[in-house]
Amino acid sequence: MNALVEIIRHEIAEHGPMPFARFMELALYHPKLGYYEHDGETIGRGGDFFTSVSVGSVFGELLAVQFAQWLDELVLLPKGTAVESCNVKSLAPVPPHEPDSTTDDTDNMDRSASSSAESVVKKSVQEFKASQFSVNSLPGLLLHSQGGEGESQGHLESQRPLQIVEAGAHDGRLAFDVLSWVREHRPDLLQQLEYWILEPSTVRRRRQAQTLSRFEEHIRWFTSWEFIPLKRVRGVIYANELLDALPVHRLGWNAAEQRWFEWAVTWEKDHFTWTKLSAVTVPSESGSPRALACFDRRLAGRSEPPDRTLDGEVPDRGSVVGEGADHGTRGRVRSPFHLNLPPELAVALPDGFTIEVGPAAEAWWSQAASRLAQGKLLTIDYGLLADEFFTPQRANGTLRGYHRHHVSSDLLSQVGEQDLTSHINFSALLEIGAKSGLRTEALIPQSKFLTEIVKQIERSPQSFPPWTPARLRQFQTLTHPEHLGRPFQVLCQSR
Ligand SMILES: C[S@@+](CC[C@H](N)C(=O)[O-])C[C@H]1O[C@@H](n2cnc3c(N)ncnc32)[C@H](O)[C@@H]1O
Repeated sequence: MNALVEIIRHEIAEHGPMPFARFMELALYHPKLGYYEHDGETIGRGGDFFTSVSVGSVFGELLAVQFAQWLDELVLLPKGTAVESCNVKSLAPVPPHEPDSTTDDTDNMDRSASSSAESVVKKSVQEFKASQFSVNSLPGLLLHSQGGEGESQGHLESQRPLQIVEAGAHDGRLAFDVLSWVREHRPDLLQQLEYWILEPSTVRRRRQAQTLSRFEEHIRWFTSWEFIPLKRVRGVIYANELLDALPVHRLGWNAAEQRWFEWAVTWEKDHFTWTKLSAVTVPSESGSPRALACFDRRLAGRSEPPDRTLDGEVPDRGSVVGEGADHGTRGRVRSPFHLNLPPELAVALPDGFTIEVGPAAEAWWSQAASRLAQGKLLTIDYGLLADEFFTPQRANGTLRGYHRHHVSSDLLSQVGEQDLTSHINFSALLEIGAKSGLRTEALIPQSKFLTEIVKQIERSPQSFPPWTPARLRQFQTLTHPEHLGRPFQVLCQSR
């Protein structure tokens, strides 16, 4: 039997059925045996699933262009001033283009469009110009260029450090792509830039340090938010596909009693199986319930359970701040849980209808927001608005496993060997950010977000490597609605 199965089985024997959030926490992040602790390839062609990062360097380079513009805005304007736009072009030296040497993982993906690089990019840009994706009629991504040549240079009055904070940097590849673009195209900005990585895993930090050895002087690691002071970050805080991999509670609807129960994991004979908890163990501070409309029903809370923690771990580098991981299921306070449904939905919801609630993602967003002094907070993830979870197609929830590029609904098998992921609740994040004083800039598909950046590059093409066929295929994969363009959403809030 796999050692992680043995550990989980033991915890169930000692404490009773395990809320799925705890099972997911151990399966993905057990300090030695969790899925994300494997040093081998889990993401990319040789792993279990693709991410935008594994497609190639274009994703990180496009993000870098956008980050540079946002950072320029901070440098140009005094603290606390709202910004509308700024000119990247005037700050960017013009380097010679380099041949494309990036790994292209798109070979086994659909390559439907076959016209020239420029025309395909232009076509996407035109399509998106005509489309409306922003929620709340928000002003978009502040990508519009204004101001003349040299104007920005003249305003570089502040040499205070700026930060890009990436959470969950996995193998460091995205950081590498972002920093490589900055070094090549904005060496002036690199001088002022600190790249902070929030990464609880010792194994991952070691791997990231290897990938990022040439940027060592710009990088600093933190193991959790608690080591970054409040309102300390002036710049960009971002995570790619992190929040959808944080532990979630799995709730089912009891139509007869008009209340939620929680799905937990137990052990029967020789395998894990599902069992129902009559009371829900989601921490009361979870934002999700508030993200739903009011319905006056309460669920009785469970008494305080034993505090289950992951093993602490000692950082292995002098530049690492903090130790140990907290994925949000540690030290839970149990209290009455409210998941309020509008009455008309409560009576119509079929028995057994399943949803996920992600207090860990919500706590993460709240902590990130509180660290941001000035700048942007960004997540790129699978996700839905609260009411989008309640459709007949999602009656079984959004949780799924990924193993060797196959989607699995068997979440309790291959423990520590498969990725587990669920859609995040953007409504909850929007509300948490707003409570923390953040403005919402956009909630848009990745396709729209990246295409807006390409529009910016079109005004200053020398600041971006040429669209070789390989790089174009990457862009198509990143923006095609059937691949990564539509499923992934970008939420951006700012202070
Ligand atoms: C789902 S991956 C992120 C994918 C990666 N950003 C990419 O684009 O390929 C998980 C990564 O997040 C890290 N991680 C897990 N929990 C975290 C947390 N609470 N804060 C920051 N990073 C975390 C893991 O150790 C691992 O490096």
